[in-house]
Amino acid sequence: MSLGDLRGQSLCVEAFHTPERGRVEALTDVVIDLDAAGEIAALHLPGTPAHAEARASERLRSPPPGTVLLPGLVDLHVHAPQYPQLGTALDLPLEDWLDTYTFPLEARYADTAFARRVYEALIDRLLAWGTTTAVYFATLHDAATKVLADVCLEKGQRAFVGRVAMDHPETCPDYYRDPSAEAAVEGTREVIGHIRGHPGNADARVRPMIAPRFVPACTDGLLAGLGALAAETATPVTSHVSEGDWEHAFVLERFGRSDAETLAGFGLMRPGSVMAHGCYLSPSDMATMIRCGTGVAHCPASNAYFGGAAFPLRRALDAGLGVGLGTDIAGGPSASLWDTARLSIQTSRLLESGIDPDLAPEARSTHRPARIDAATAFWLATAGGADVLGLPVGRFAPGQSFDALFIDTTAPGGGLTFWEEGAHDPPERRLERLLYGTGEANIASVYVAGTPVAGRAPAP
Ligand code: GUN
Ligand code: FE
Repeated sequence: MSLGDLRGQSLCVEAFHTPERGRVEALTDVVIDLDAAGEIAALHLPGTPAHAEARASERLRSPPPGTVLLPGLVDLHVHAPQYPQLGTALDLPLEDWLDTYTFPLEARYADTAFARRVYEALIDRLLAWGTTTAVYFATLHDAATKVLADVCLEKGQRAFVGRVAMDHPETCPDYYRDPSAEAAVEGTREVIGHIRGHPGNADARVRPMIAPRFVPACTDGLLAGLGALAAETATPVTSHVSEGDWEHAFVLERFGRSDAETLAGFGLMRPGSVMAHGCYLSPSDMATMIRCGTGVAHCPASNAYFGGAAFPLRRALDAGLGVGLGTDIAGGPSASLWDTARLSIQTSRLLESGIDPDLAPEARSTHRPARIDAATAFWLATAGGADVLGLPVGRFAPGQSFDALFIDTTAPGGGLTFWEEGAHDPPERRLERLLYGTGEANIASVYVAGTPVAGRAPAP
């Protein structure tokens, strides 16, 4: 099912979104007017004269009964080159996993043909799952990083793309390391220029990020050079922060201050920047990030393998820190942000209850409350992630880009039990069922800026 290009059209549909953390809004029979650029020009609710007029118009498009509209998903943390490694060796500690599997794989992206093959497959997969915006780490290769940005543009995905920088001779292998801090900074500058100057990128659908891999992989000179480049070119930054005990302790030992303070001190925490994980962020680290306008990519799947602790999500949200979700391909074994969103709820529940059955219930956890509900998880996967990036996506409102998913709730093999019986349940219950039950077969079509980017072929 696809309604074709919706730019300049009007659409009548049942939509759900979470405009604020934890608040679900059901827009039943809403009419959405799109402008020529694929932005939402107006929303008309039933009972208004404009709605009645639109309903009578021959130009109004309507999807088949049983279809609901949701905002596109925002994945704040993807290592694009690690896609071939999905689900591999997650029994190893992060440092061994990187050395044994990840660095040898990433080194192969010196071959741009290999890069194109993987990146096309990955972006097709993410779009099919409804990920309309992604923040990507590429590799340290300028050419292959440009290929990643090009493939995003060709396939229509909204993205931030970072050329990975890593030059530390003690933590990076000889075969996969920037030869110098200067070379890494110049390579990053080159890729920023390619993305911003790309003739197919007039609407800035793809944007650059500066991507120091993580503090342990970078010399002081590189961290300082990238901080200066970020300020000079007004480019946001993506990296990892306090992901696991090893990284957290390593940075504390090297700099005498936390990972977050170190990144901020080098000018690498900037508005619209995103740091992955943050399991060990202290309240003062969170305050630093809030002051800098930098948010967290919460990656619950990867944290279960490499983190050693759960990210204190509820504490971060209550403090006012920007948070969205990340699959962390391939630290997380699923490319689906639906899986990530479900796991963010389950992890928050385990953090609240505690998990040691030998302890009395009241002694099992010191994080109470820690739980989030399904509405909050859906918000993290959409508007919350968009807010971290400062993008006008993730909600249905005038001025927002129409990045959206048509969900066929009746699709065979889709796994949803979104039946008539529940039609009168409150919106938060209905969205909860959509969040837990949606399978790939239910994702009928996927739009970015009013144009279809994935889904079944348009009806003739
Ligand atoms: N820290 C530095 N590099 C990586 C990576 O590739 N994945 C994860 N999960 N953490 C990292
Ligand atoms: Fe990561």
